[in-house]
Amino acid sequence: MIVLFFGDVYGKPGRFALLQKLPDLMAEYKSDFVIVNVENLADGRGLTEKTLKPLFNQGVDVVTGGNHLWDRAESLEYIAHEKRIIKPINYPASAPGSDSYIITKSGLTLGVMCLTGQIFMPPCDSPFHAFDRLWEDADHSIPWLVDFHAESTSEKRAFGWYVDGRAAVVVGTHTHIQTADEEILPQKTAYLTDVGMTGAHDSVIGVKKEIILEKLRSAVPRRYETSDKGLMINAAVFELDNDSGRALSIKRLRIPVER
Ligand SMILES: [Fe+2]
Ligand SMILES: [Fe+2]
Repeated sequence: MIVLFFGDVYGKPGRFALLQKLPDLMAEYKSDFVIVNVENLADGRGLTEKTLKPLFNQGVDVVTGGNHLWDRAESLEYIAHEKRIIKPINYPASAPGSDSYIITKSGLTLGVMCLTGQIFMPPCDSPFHAFDRLWEDADHSIPWLVDFHAESTSEKRAFGWYVDGRAAVVVGTHTHIQTADEEILPQKTAYLTDVGMTGAHDSVIGVKKEIILEKLRSAVPRRYETSDKGLMINAAVFELDNDSGRALSIKRLRIPVER
């Protein structure tokens, strides 16, 4: 089976880039499943029903979150009711979102879950213990994709080793910077430290660079504005064996998108 995964889709430019290229990419790679990290979907801060629905309508199967998932109070009820929105499972049970989601399509099944890291991140439970708890009750006969949403490359790498042979895919998100370390680990888990951002790359992680420079130079907080320059898809294509569920290949994508 083929799984297409898109990294942090940032604001309107990110949604434009994703929706512009999605049909072609789904056809080109003959994808069975499409998963998108949407923690920055609505102007960089969380999501809204209005910004997420077009993704589901265009073939996205399930979406994952991160530390920004709940940034918009008006969306909390939607997140609680739309079961295809997966929250990091090491956040409190009271935080809305699904703990995991199992997609079945055309005779193929994939489980999806999401965790955040603890290093340089808002407080959360240990992702290692949270994974073990979920894994205890999980269906081990199907492949699982884990979106590991974290800042520290070492924590991500360690997590990859920790779940090698259990998860079929560990794909990192959150930094918005794609890493070139894709690998099939010894126990056949596909691993990538960070898939990167789908959005405006003439920016600092999606925000107009002038604003971030001014903030860093002056130490005075500034209101963020989403950049709309340098649109690019950052994604990865994972191929899993239909019988064993183990990873066969992993390919990174960085595709410029014209406005
Ligand atoms: Fe993000
Ligand atoms: Fe994040």
